[in-house]
Amino acid sequence: MELLSTQPYKGTRDFYPDDMKLRNWFFGKIRRALELAAFDEYNGPMVESLDLYIAKSGEEIACEQTYNFEDRGGRRLAIRPEMTPTVARLVAAKCAELNMPLKWFSIPNLYRYERPQRGRLREHWQVNVDIFGCDTFDADLEVISTAINLMKSFDADETMFRVHINNRRFFNDVISAICGTDAEGSRKVSKVVDRRNKVTREAYVKDLTELGISEDKIAKIDALYTMTVEEATALCPESRGSEELLSLFEAVRAMGIEKYCVFDFGIIRGLDYYTGTVFEVFDEAPENNRAMFGGGRYDNLVGLFLKKTNISGVGFGFGDVTLENFLVTHKLIPDIYNIGKKVLVARFEEVPVEKYTSIVDSLRENGIVSSLYIGTKKFGKQLDYAIKGKYTHVVIIGGNELETGIAKIKNLSTHEETECPIDKIGKYFN
Ligand code: HAM
Repeated sequence: MELLSTQPYKGTRDFYPDDMKLRNWFFGKIRRALELAAFDEYNGPMVESLDLYIAKSGEEIACEQTYNFEDRGGRRLAIRPEMTPTVARLVAAKCAELNMPLKWFSIPNLYRYERPQRGRLREHWQVNVDIFGCDTFDADLEVISTAINLMKSFDADETMFRVHINNRRFFNDVISAICGTDAEGSRKVSKVVDRRNKVTREAYVKDLTELGISEDKIAKIDALYTMTVEEATALCPESRGSEELLSLFEAVRAMGIEKYCVFDFGIIRGLDYYTGTVFEVFDEAPENNRAMFGGGRYDNLVGLFLKKTNISGVGFGFGDVTLENFLVTHKLIPDIYNIGKKVLVARFEEVPVEKYTSIVDSLRENGIVSSLYIGTKKFGKQLDYAIKGKYTHVVIIGGNELETGIAKIKNLSTHEETECPIDKIGKYFN
């Protein structure tokens, strides 16, 4: 019989205990920072109706990247490639009773059929932070400053990451001011601009030319990539998008977070539902060139589920793969593998097992991570097991110790041996 592979499915990862320690550490930090900022956690199912993504996520995600299938009842379903349609559905279902503005977060695992590469896999976990029910840019600001605070909670500074900000409304208006395009024409240009880092300059120019954009207009678009927010918005001063961008940057300056932020005309976001502010956070290390966060304002998504009411949303997704690359590259991971005291109670045949279990119980009652050795190996083997398992101490109670009532305690880092009355072991390590 041919043996089965031990490899996980392409683009997915196995998490061994040391991997989980790292993940629990960084997700724990994120969870604490978000709870401290009064965001409440929610969750939803891994499987949704495929229509949810076809309606709003945009062609690339819905058609090329979802894992979809038909269930036994003939329903077209997809494994969630993103969380935003799900959270919009949750909000729509209970909008009358929810306390707006809502501040919600979630850490789902998502599936996208992508070519696995550095920073991109087929399964990733994504911290989703969203605010619903606030139409003014205060929510955009809160979301962007939350993203910055999350980075700062890992001791990241302004040399390590940058928030690149643009505005969809501004984009459409400035493109229409330069090229004379209508809404659909501007949307087509946005798709070309969004792809420009993935294709050659020739292909980029060819795609724009095919949309009827002349050489001098392409030069005007080129100039936008290096403009400041004031220079760029001066090209379409009447646009609501310009006003939104200028107000946002003014507030960013007033809050003292402008060192983390930059205006970037090239930020479009591949997802179709964004309507206003859009942003991405980039790692400044050149080897980590994929966006770490992506987000923005989406005014019409909850409206997909409701007849008359609409509730706007603004938020971002922050992936675990790019976060881990970031933390490793910038050396921001402390020693999370040594958790403090960890005690192994060695086992000898001549001592009844219940003597040992009561000792382990008393250690645990005192909050000490502890285990009774499982099995009947010789003491030397038990000691090897303790060292490999990163135990810090071994409690030794054989026939002699049981008789005298005094246990031996071996410290595995100093190799010292001390003694302790058996009935006091519970408190010995505190
Ligand atoms: P997104 O830009 O598709 O946005 O993803 C957000 C982040 O998730 C990316 O910047 C990246 O860190 C991570 N990510 C995405 N795809 C992958 C992948 N294949 N492998 C590893 N990491 C990945 C959204 O999904 C929006 N729904 C976010 C959002 C929330 N917008 C508003 N609220």
